[in-house]
Amino acid sequence: MQTYRLERFSTIDDLVLHTEDIPQPRANEVLVRVRASSLNFRDLMIVNGHYPMSSEPGHIPLSDSAGEIVEIGNAVTRFKIGDRVANTFFPRWFGGRFEMAYAHEQYGSDRDGWLTEYKAVDQETLVSIPAHLSFEQAATLPCAAVTAWSALSGPTPVTAGDTVLTQGTGGVSLFALQLAKLCGARVIAITSSDDKVAKLKALGADDAINYTAIPNWDQAIRELTEGRGVDRIVEVGGTGTLAKSIRATALGGEISIIGLLSSASEQIDFMQLFMGGATLRRIAVGSRDDFDLMNRAIAQHRLQPIVDCVYPFAQAKDAWRHFERRGHIGKVVIAH
Ligand SMILES: NC(=O)c1ccc[n+]([C@@H]2O[C@H](COP(=O)([O-])OP(=O)(O)OC[C@H]3O[C@@H](n4cnc5c(N)ncnc54)[C@H](OP(=O)(O)O)[C@@H]3O)[C@@H](O)[C@H]2O)c1
Repeated sequence: MQTYRLERFSTIDDLVLHTEDIPQPRANEVLVRVRASSLNFRDLMIVNGHYPMSSEPGHIPLSDSAGEIVEIGNAVTRFKIGDRVANTFFPRWFGGRFEMAYAHEQYGSDRDGWLTEYKAVDQETLVSIPAHLSFEQAATLPCAAVTAWSALSGPTPVTAGDTVLTQGTGGVSLFALQLAKLCGARVIAITSSDDKVAKLKALGADDAINYTAIPNWDQAIRELTEGRGVDRIVEVGGTGTLAKSIRATALGGEISIIGLLSSASEQIDFMQLFMGGATLRRIAVGSRDDFDLMNRAIAQHRLQPIVDCVYPFAQAKDAWRHFERRGHIGKVVIAH
């Protein structure tokens, strides 16, 4: 079988294709014929050596995949040959509270990932995928979609009539837009260009603001919400956006802390945070239970993930280069 391994942490050219033996599943394992994988922002950080979790040179990259079970170990009960599956981001987080031990086991960094043709894994690390999705669509779900689902659900779920703010046009943000609409919320999106404003509206955003043209987008959001602010922010910008997000949140609203895309920095005003009454909740993708619940909603509403483009396995490096150029809208997928 063909497998990519990341030999160093410097550039995309450090990805090297190897020919290896197909692994044999042990008693509790299944053998997955991987049909598609997808890129997340972390995969760029890992290649460039900027990801905070440890990775060994020579590991197989990518946290997200979908495929078909082609062989099962003799103790496997959850799946049968022919089942269509996707992997969870954290192989051992099945439900309940997040523990730091889970953070140190991630596919594509601490553990070998999914940029390979076959992979033998414990049956517990997989979920069934919705029947209406292709493998390419399903491979977009494990990180970005589950993260967006966790940001909108959690202890205080978004409900019909709420207003949700999404930031940008990447994987997490577009799933947040789609899932928030599915929950009956109004969505306001911010993005970097007028062209992307038009695309976000075409994808269902009720309002979209060009943050390059309107740097004080927090004020624009107050105006769009008659001074009230939004109920939920899917916060992927980090230090460059959090202060504005706090000013754009309604009393009692929630900011789901997810990303660190922006290198800019603005001081957080403690009194603003205190008086605004926003809850800050840190998201770590989600558990297997979260993935299953999200798939139920995706199946019921026949949600179609936004796939920007699909690269063949042989051109995986070009998928990274495309992703690095930041021209994508939604998910960049590799077909195996
Ligand atoms: N905590 C978690 O569990 C978790 C899970 C998944 C992802 N994340 C984090 O969430 C963030 C988004 O991840 P993703 O995979 O959705 O990213 P992505 O697909 O690469 O999306 C990035 C988008 O964000 C916008 N952006 C704004 N400033 C940017 C900058 N300085 N560099 C790059 N993009 C910028 C751009 O959209 P516009 O041009 O439209 O603004 C860009 O297309 C990342 O920081 C990632 O590490 C965290």
